[in-house]
Amino acid sequence: MEEERIISAQEQKSDRSWDLTLRPQSLVEYIGQNQVKENLAVVLEAAQKRKEPLDHVLLFGPPGLGKTTLAYIIAKEMGVGIKVTSGPAISKAGDLAAIITNLQEGDILFIDEIHRLNKTIEEILYPAMEDYALDIILGKGPSAQILRLDLPKFTLIGATTRYNLISSPLRDRFGLTFRLDFYNEEEIAEIVKRSANILAVNIDKDSRKEIAGRSRATPRIANRILKRVRDYAQVKADGNISFDLTQKAMDMMAIDRYGLDDLDRRLLQVIAENFAGGPVGLGTLAAAVQEEAGTIEEIFEPYLMQLGFLARTAKGRIATDKTYQYLNIKKPGESQNNLFS
Ligand code: ADE
Repeated sequence: MEEERIISAQEQKSDRSWDLTLRPQSLVEYIGQNQVKENLAVVLEAAQKRKEPLDHVLLFGPPGLGKTTLAYIIAKEMGVGIKVTSGPAISKAGDLAAIITNLQEGDILFIDEIHRLNKTIEEILYPAMEDYALDIILGKGPSAQILRLDLPKFTLIGATTRYNLISSPLRDRFGLTFRLDFYNEEEIAEIVKRSANILAVNIDKDSRKEIAGRSRATPRIANRILKRVRDYAQVKADGNISFDLTQKAMDMMAIDRYGLDDLDRRLLQVIAENFAGGPVGLGTLAAAVQEEAGTIEEIFEPYLMQLGFLARTAKGRIATDKTYQYLNIKKPGESQNNLFS
């Protein structure tokens, strides 16, 4: 289900070729995340002046905000190579050894979804990050020996949507940690402007704003919507994107003015109505809406919380006053008051 949603922040296959064209290539081109950019600019320059590899970097935050893009930019700015992999893709120690031993001095190893690395692999990373060494165990039992291989000095960039799932020994080995946050509407509108420019499509200011407002503060979604609106304008009109066309296209995609779709609404409705506003535990909620708990936590909730439509408490998830306003239903126990108001 999740991979079919136009407003899913998770990467979809069709995003890939698209990303290559639209992805900013330098920090100057990268819109938003100003604090991260400022800090990065300083550490990049310092490392370059010292002619040293950059410290290991941990990037965390909701999906679709540009963690991978930043890793590519860092490589480009440092003038080094980058190898890209992900936690689930490294299943055996040998997979990691093969990648690391092929790195050149100063290169970047980017591990996406680093929270999904298995424990054995993670332990191989510790000496690799700390001492640029790879410990290989030869043989088994009492006669086993450790062979230490020297590695080139490299930079590990780890990305995660789940900071709290990173073990503390791994966390401690990153010299730099940056949190990416949701973008504001102006920033997303600016990204849409930049993308439309690259794609040579005309789009007016109101349409850019409209797309920005419905993109869940996430560049990946904004670019995906832009692509769909462009298709719509091509088919229904002369290819230029007007406000009227934008609205029609968005209505067709069933994205409301907050960027929410039926799945989000169902989740909110279940908390508000079936569980009387909560608190409801994540597992119970997941069963009620038939989604995985991890998907709810990672994909649905961050943006709903950002909107103030949902809150997490120690006892579980709760609906807020805003949730009821949004769903246009009465809060339990408020009906009598409302009769007289
Ligand atoms: N495309 C996707 N994310 C972007 C960003 N942060 N800045 C510019 N273009 C982008």
